[in-house]
Amino acid sequence: MQAPMLQPCSRRSKPEEYFRVKYGKDSFLIQAKKVNFLPIFLDIHDRNCVVAGGGEVAARKVAMLLRAGARVTVVAPRLCSELLEQLNEQSREGKLVYRAETFHGDHLADAVLVIAATDDFAVNQRISEAANRLRIPVNVVDNPALCSFIMPSIVDRTPVVVAVSSGGTSPVLTRLLRARLETMIPTAYGRLAAYAGEFRDRVKHRFSQPAKRRRFWERVLQGPFAEMVFAGKDQAAKAWLEHELENETEEPVKGEVYLVGAGPGDPELLTFRAMRLMQQADVVVYDRLVSPEILDMLRRDTPRIYAGKERNRHTMPQESINDLLVRLAREGKRVLRLKGGDPFIFGRGGEEIETLSGNGIPFEVVPGITAANGAASYAGIPLTHRDYAQSCIFVTGHLKDGSVDLDWPMLARPKQTIVVYMGLLGLTVLCKQLIAHGLPNTTPAAIVQQGTTRKQRVLAATLETLPDLTAAAHLVPPTLVIVGEVVKLHRKLAWFQPEGNLPGDAE
Ligand SMILES: C[S@@+](CC[C@H](N)C(=O)[O-])C[C@H]1O[C@@H](n2cnc3c(N)ncnc32)[C@H](O)[C@@H]1O
Repeated sequence: MQAPMLQPCSRRSKPEEYFRVKYGKDSFLIQAKKVNFLPIFLDIHDRNCVVAGGGEVAARKVAMLLRAGARVTVVAPRLCSELLEQLNEQSREGKLVYRAETFHGDHLADAVLVIAATDDFAVNQRISEAANRLRIPVNVVDNPALCSFIMPSIVDRTPVVVAVSSGGTSPVLTRLLRARLETMIPTAYGRLAAYAGEFRDRVKHRFSQPAKRRRFWERVLQGPFAEMVFAGKDQAAKAWLEHELENETEEPVKGEVYLVGAGPGDPELLTFRAMRLMQQADVVVYDRLVSPEILDMLRRDTPRIYAGKERNRHTMPQESINDLLVRLAREGKRVLRLKGGDPFIFGRGGEEIETLSGNGIPFEVVPGITAANGAASYAGIPLTHRDYAQSCIFVTGHLKDGSVDLDWPMLARPKQTIVVYMGLLGLTVLCKQLIAHGLPNTTPAAIVQQGTTRKQRVLAATLETLPDLTAAAHLVPPTLVIVGEVVKLHRKLAWFQPEGNLPGDAE
């Protein structure tokens, strides 16, 4: 193997061809290795792997090798406490052997793989050379130039493992990519793969044509079977798969409805489950408050039905929406019923699933971040606080015949935060009633326009001054009113300031 460069770069060398490695107080410039690695998964079950080094990094590598079923020999003069613990746990089963020595070539006698994780550059280099002479794959931690293999970042959904590597060029990029993949792959994928493994032979036996088998698995792994496993209904999933296997002729697909909360506006507040169901739905029925950015995240070819209800413009009566969901599901479709915020908070989600349940349509409910949580967090107004509010109450402030019908004595209590949905038109009545029922007119109160979006605006004032301030500000719905001492904290805690809206602008 070619020895790494240990001298500083010459003026003519390109900096990207070198990188610096640190060993304690020393640092070296190493020539970068410009090769493409072959991605493989290695079977090291019951084979001997050597780890040189007794520190925490070595401990992590040992744990990884043991997880893959290897027998591991650790070579190091001393061990850190983590390795000593592993040794106590594993040595009884003969899985982990400790050699309290400095590394020499004999340690590699029956090794199939070696990892050098010492803090001594010269030792690591010797290990690399010895392993290369014996054609044993070697990894030197943080030193790609001395490696014949590198370890990828992994997303572990055992038995499914996704490996990510930048070929040793950018560990940070690899980590970022891995984090993205973590969010995209449900944790239940491991169980899904394990069940697929259980049924594999039977499916092979049942469908002799590979193409037919492939179509069967595509349908199973993207359809109700996978969905039931993700929802934790494992027994039902297996029963479904048994049934599908028994009935060679495909039955008409049964539809279902996903009642999904899309959160208050910022697409990043969607849940993983919401994201996944959005990708697999056959049709979407969505509300007015679902933001365009969120609709953009649907599959492009998914048909969309607008069922938005606007004040004085009831686009589709609730009964028609309920019936529509039943009809679409009966056509065998997977229907995504997408609602702003949380479907069970002033969202009539309960009524919709009552109708589905009454008609025997399978459904599941995915909670979303409700406007109160989203808008309050982004406005820097904690809804409860040890010093200011021990309870929080959500109400709707619908104006009907010039009045708002609420239990005022129950609302006008000290140390309580009141969040009012749909309170913009009735704001004056609301503030007056709260004062009339005992809250001081100096009680802090705020209104949040389009919380969590780039158009968020927060006006923070008092019960007495908020209505006039709001009227002058020409806010654009949706808006949310928050009343209580916690509003005082907005000026100090407002962290989300899109389009130059600074905290306390209104005061
Ligand atoms: C019919 S309710 C639906 C509530 C929704 N299910 C939820 O959990 O947030 C609609 C009201 O929620 C409030 N709202 C929804 N999104 C909002 C946002 N981004 N900012 C402020 N208020 C919002 C407004 O008061 C709006 O009139």
